[in-house]
Amino acid sequence: MSAKGINLMLAISMLYSIMETNSRFEFTNLNCTAFDLRVGEFEYCNLKSINRSYKYVSGKYKLHQIPLPNMKVNFIMWKRLNGYRPFLYNITVDACKFIENPKSNPVLKYIFESFSAYSNMNHSCPYSSDLIVERLPIGFMNHRVTEILPIPEGNYLFEFRFSHRKSIFAGTRVYFTIS
Ligand SMILES: *[C@@H]1O[C@H](CO)[C@@H](O)[C@H](O)[C@H]1NC(C)=O
Ligand SMILES: *[C@@H]1O[C@H](CO)[C@@H](O)[C@H](O)[C@H]1NC(C)=O
Ligand SMILES: *[C@@H]1O[C@H](CO)[C@@H](O)[C@H](O)[C@H]1NC(C)=O
Ligand SMILES: *[C@@H]1O[C@H](CO)[C@@H](O)[C@H](O)[C@H]1NC(C)=O
Repeated sequence: MSAKGINLMLAISMLYSIMETNSRFEFTNLNCTAFDLRVGEFEYCNLKSINRSYKYVSGKYKLHQIPLPNMKVNFIMWKRLNGYRPFLYNITVDACKFIENPKSNPVLKYIFESFSAYSNMNHSCPYSSDLIVERLPIGFMNHRVTEILPIPEGNYLFEFRFSHRKSIFAGTRVYFTIS
């Protein structure tokens, strides 16, 4: 590509990043549901607002079936248009294989990196204790979503379905807006 072409691309991407920096991420709702209490249950799962700038998400899933082999995670991204419609991603991975090699799925790697520092989940299998996400702050998510991977404005839903032997035992839905 010519130098001119590269400059134009740089200018466009800079403009794009300036525009995107003004966008805002907000968690709007959270739904954690345990479908099979033999496998485990949510002790809590909530969105807390300390003040205007400090809001966070926490959740704890108490694992009853220990260890839990062959856990699959299905991630579906939804965008609200007229009701929520699947948008861009519908991915299923084997949780243990993914944890051993996060690079195998760049989208899930990005999502995992968005909360792993606030969780106890970054270790290899088996998972034999409660799964916890503690005080994942909105400011951190704002940075991740709007500056590292710009997502267009809108209302979104990240849905995670956890299954074991083809049956879904738990689900988490994270609703957020980018404005
Ligand atoms: C959460 O999701 C479950 C399962 O889809 C649904 O039955 C329940 O009504 C939802 N809870 C809330 C508070 O929306
Ligand atoms: C919001 O709460 C956090 C934690 O208590 C505090 O550190 C921060 O200064 C508060 N911010 C504002 C704008 O009050
Ligand atoms: C996600 O993909 C699976 C496998 O291709 C499919 O069965 C399922 O219906 C899809 N889910 C949605 C919400 O599109
Ligand atoms: C998980 O832990 C490993 C080893 O401590 C570290 O290298 C890696 O960056 C961590 N991954 C995430 C997504 O936090």
